[in-house]
Amino acid sequence: MNPPASRLTLYRGDITRLATDAIVNAANETLLGGGGVDGAIHRAAGTELLDHCRALPEVSRGCRCPTGEARMTPGFRLPARHIIHTVGPIWRGGNAGEPALLTACYRSVFELARRHALARLAIPAISCGVYGYPWPAAADIAVTECRIALAENPALKEVLLVAFSAEMAAVLEHALDTTA
Ligand code: APR
Repeated sequence: MNPPASRLTLYRGDITRLATDAIVNAANETLLGGGGVDGAIHRAAGTELLDHCRALPEVSRGCRCPTGEARMTPGFRLPARHIIHTVGPIWRGGNAGEPALLTACYRSVFELARRHALARLAIPAISCGVYGYPWPAAADIAVTECRIALAENPALKEVLLVAFSAEMAAVLEHALDTTA
């Protein structure tokens, strides 16, 4: 059963400006910031975010969040209350477990949302920038997993899929229209 389309919507713009319960960050395993949306979120959240992340426990040398997992922090200076940091797979051709790892990112994000009873989330196109994941395949995973989460979690009221460019917006729109 697909939830009403209104609960999963496309948003075109800068995720750091959204006053949702949480915005999702496409981070790396250090959680110490980077470029892309990670850099934008750290700039907008302020240096307290970096201090907070630095204090998070490492699960292995230099790694605070393994690929496919997620960690939640406060939003600090962001309009969003929380940030859910997840680490997407680097695209290596598609035979290194990338689809399963990207799927795991969304499931890890939605598990944290469920555990913290978050109602509204905004999610960028995880792995679709520096990490080079092919956009249509990534968009299909994103839409599929968002729909599953919305169907399974009545406390989850709205998920915004955030496109930073017109091109990505078109890809996400197509996935919304064609993914079962
Ligand atoms: N708001 C919304 N989306 C954004 C923003 C923004 N302000 N800035 C960039 N994006 C989009 C990109 O256009 C892309 O579609 O986020 C998507 C994810 O791209 P990246 O940020 O490059 O993330 P990813 O491909 O997952 O690579 C992660 O990049 O920044 C580093 O530290 C990060 O090492 C990690 C890697």
